[in-house]
Amino acid sequence: MGQNIRRRDVIRAVPLVVFGSAVAGFGRFLLGCSSDGTPMRTQGPTKGEGPATDKPTDGDEFTPGTGEPPVVASEEPPKVPNPQWESRAKQLEGEQQRLYGAVFTLEAPGPMVGKQRSHVPQAHVTVENALPRVTVLVEHVMGKNLLEAGAPAADATVDAAEAGKADASADAAKEAEAGPPVEAGAAPIHYITTVYLRAVVAGKDTVVGLWEFASDDAAPPTVKFTLPAGVTSVVAYEWCTLHGLWKSAALSV
Ligand SMILES: [Fe+2]
Repeated sequence: MGQNIRRRDVIRAVPLVVFGSAVAGFGRFLLGCSSDGTPMRTQGPTKGEGPATDKPTDGDEFTPGTGEPPVVASEEPPKVPNPQWESRAKQLEGEQQRLYGAVFTLEAPGPMVGKQRSHVPQAHVTVENALPRVTVLVEHVMGKNLLEAGAPAADATVDAAEAGKADASADAAKEAEAGPPVEAGAAPIHYITTVYLRAVVAGKDTVVGLWEFASDDAAPPTVKFTLPAGVTSVVAYEWCTLHGLWKSAALSV
């Protein structure tokens, strides 16, 4: 008898439970909507909470300045325009344009955000023997760094642990040593290939100094240029085999 009552009560209670759940669910739905019916709270983290995003960093390539003297590109003012320099700069700028658009800067690093400190060229002016010189430093790793350049990518953070294949790419490295890489990603080693300066000379934007580094030159790369006469402002550029073309702000001479 008692068993029958319990079974009957259970059977009666089932529709009530179902109905109650439906009401509760609808109530939760209403609470989750604003007056205009849009969701008030979306899934996933909002600003200031939740897991960290996968921002690119430069921890595996940043190499602070050591105070070592720079390479001296030239003790005398160069003759400009220099067709080779113009051609090389044009090549790199064309490659940057093709891959990313504008040249990266401190304020506008594009997809390379987080990598400014190791890529924005740092330039300063000195006067020696009455000649203006510009020294450029790029606080970036060079040479046998176990960081393969690979193909450039928007989020091109290189995993050093995964890059133990550097030895295997020794042959390719020799190829790269044969001449400066032509395209981003063409070199198997992640390093700064080129530093150059642009300035207005006789009313025309001109390359007034250019230096090509070897992949196993000392890190961080630094080079000193002597400027042609009449230059009043320069911009320094550098090319990273993985992270493209970067430039400094204009520097008064
Ligand atoms: Fe880089």
